[in-house]
Amino acid sequence: MKSIGLYCFSGTGNTYIVAKAMEEAFIKRGCEVSLNSMEMPVDLNKDMVGLVFPVAIQSTFPNVWEFVNKMPQSEGQRVFVVDTMEAFSGGVIGPMKKMLIKKGYKCVGAKELKMATSMQTSEKKVAEGLSKNEKAIVDISDFVEALLSGETTWRRVPLLSDWMRSISRNRKIWTDMSKKIEVRHDVCVGCGLCVRNCPVKAIDFPDKRIMLNHDKCICCMRCVNYCPKNAFTLGGKEVYQKKVEGFMQSVNK
Ligand SMILES: Cc1cc2nc3c(=O)[nH]c(=O)nc-3n(C[C@H](O)[C@H](O)[C@H](O)COP(=O)(O)O)c2cc1C
Repeated sequence: MKSIGLYCFSGTGNTYIVAKAMEEAFIKRGCEVSLNSMEMPVDLNKDMVGLVFPVAIQSTFPNVWEFVNKMPQSEGQRVFVVDTMEAFSGGVIGPMKKMLIKKGYKCVGAKELKMATSMQTSEKKVAEGLSKNEKAIVDISDFVEALLSGETTWRRVPLLSDWMRSISRNRKIWTDMSKKIEVRHDVCVGCGLCVRNCPVKAIDFPDKRIMLNHDKCICCMRCVNYCPKNAFTLGGKEVYQKKVEGFMQSVNK
């Protein structure tokens, strides 16, 4: 029996859907799986370790890079990555491979899946997202099959991907994007759900009044998507929340 350690970060739930589907696909094929959040330390006593996370700014969120940076040195631990994105990445798969190889990991497979956008501000986007998510579930099961039979690859385009990754290193990009998120204080009921579930503690709550700290926010959109009153707007527009079943319970564990 193969043992698999999955480490997942998800902002709005797409990546959680994929991680759960992977867990199920591995178990179906006789593997033992532990599904963890990216707050847990990586256990190297596994046959394979998998990192599952969303694409952001053609790369991924700063907290995901921090997690990879903190992963222990290894002597040939097999690792794979799966990222979810709306359309295109470029600055994640290659640079992450480089980083993991430096840490002594054996990079066995990488898969990118197109899914719903985290920023659903039109009905068209909602419909597109639903069909992309359905396809992603099928694709991830095929990827699991290929991983177990050793048929996956992890390519790297050195110069271009390193350059694309470098764009997301600039904190200003995240701060500027965060400024598009606004709270409608007349709609907010001060329940504090967003405060408790922000992965980078970027929401302050003085006198039950939500204050986004744009210098800390990574724009993962969790607060926007799961607000019970839909009190946040994005670029002045209301968001069509997607509220993936089971996701908030999983981050509240
Ligand atoms: C701040 C931000 C930046 C994003 N940048 C990209 C991008 O560069 N390319 C892309 O294809 N999708 C991008 N997306 C879309 C997400 O990668 C995609 O919706 C992902 O599946 C979200 O996963 P989650 O629901 O687990 O958070 C971005 C989303 C956010 C919130």
